[in-house]
Amino acid sequence: MKKLLAAVLACIMAASMVACSGGEGGQNAAAPAGDESTTSTEGAAPKEGGKLVGISMPTKSLERWNRDGSYLEKQFKDKGCEVKLTYSDNKIDQQVKDIENLIADKVNLLVVAAIDGESLSNVLSNAKSANIPVISYDRLIMNTDAISYYISFDNYKVGQLQGQFVIDQLGLKQGDKSKTYNIEFTAGDPADNNATFFFNGAMDTLKPYIDEGILKIPSGQTTFQQAGTAAWDTKKAMDRMQNILASYYSDGKTQLDVALCSNDSTALGVTQAIGSDYKGTNKPIITGQDGDEANLANIVDGKQSMTVYKAVANEAVATLDLGMAMLDGKKPDKGLIESSGWEFDCSYDTESYDNEKGIVPSYLLDPIIVTKENMKKELVDTGYYTMDGDYLKAKN
Ligand code: GAL
Repeated sequence: MKKLLAAVLACIMAASMVACSGGEGGQNAAAPAGDESTTSTEGAAPKEGGKLVGISMPTKSLERWNRDGSYLEKQFKDKGCEVKLTYSDNKIDQQVKDIENLIADKVNLLVVAAIDGESLSNVLSNAKSANIPVISYDRLIMNTDAISYYISFDNYKVGQLQGQFVIDQLGLKQGDKSKTYNIEFTAGDPADNNATFFFNGAMDTLKPYIDEGILKIPSGQTTFQQAGTAAWDTKKAMDRMQNILASYYSDGKTQLDVALCSNDSTALGVTQAIGSDYKGTNKPIITGQDGDEANLANIVDGKQSMTVYKAVANEAVATLDLGMAMLDGKKPDKGLIESSGWEFDCSYDTESYDNEKGIVPSYLLDPIIVTKENMKKELVDTGYYTMDGDYLKAKN
């Protein structure tokens, strides 16, 4: 009961906070409509002495970035900043151009979620020359000394949660080879630095069982390079899983027990492939990440087993407080976590994230496992989604 009361209070607090400047969390405007590659600047002009914040998101075609963009835009506007929000249609050249335009607009701060972490070195050296600080948002931007901070979730832990879920669901015990299981991996975009963390977190967690032969990978595709999915593309993930099923699971005997997918857009394609091409009678465990609406519906319908949810509303709040401290000329460190009074867990890491030009100080939030059983508690009672019949709809 206490938890529910806290959740209700959180929603009331969030709603009231949004009404006054300095919103720390809360509802957000619907994601900007319109075509893929967009820049939106409508809304609050900066109050006296306000700042101009440039936000570069990768695409609208992957559901979560619409939420990131609208949460970030709302949070900075509520603090009296003007915001220029761009979406680059998952096109690297477009994102470079978008960032160049934001620099030309003389933004005071850049918040960038890179399409390709290796592709922004030149344009961000221009930001550095223009003394524009850069927050690397959610995905670590590589090979540049222009990054002040990285803010994301503990993405290795995302993979660990997916791996541990498989161990728990199958009841795996080291040394017990009385039963063996078949698993296939679908990893993320090789251009996305996060994708290797997801894959390695899962693979490291499951490796002891793979080494003992308790978990087998009939396709033999055990490396990130073999399992990767360019642009996190649903159809590419579906096509690859159809090929694997046709090549290794069509003898009517080989059972697929687990399809470990690093995120929901790839899980959607894998689920479609299994639905159309898998001949077995069992329901394979399928993992995902992000809480995309279509995948939450598949979890309700029993087609997907779980997703790892990352509350991007909290990531936006943390980015706001970090960004505002930077705009005040401060150099935040671990103290920002204590002083901000965030109602969510966050760690400060100054050792793990080397972007090839040095360690980037990082703020990492915690991901959680969502299943059919805890979906309402973790996603609806917390105010992130509403119920739409039996299914969940994201709040923005
Ligand atoms: C990752 C992000 C994940 C995943 C993917 C697709 O970088 O951290 O949430 O879904 O991109 O956008």
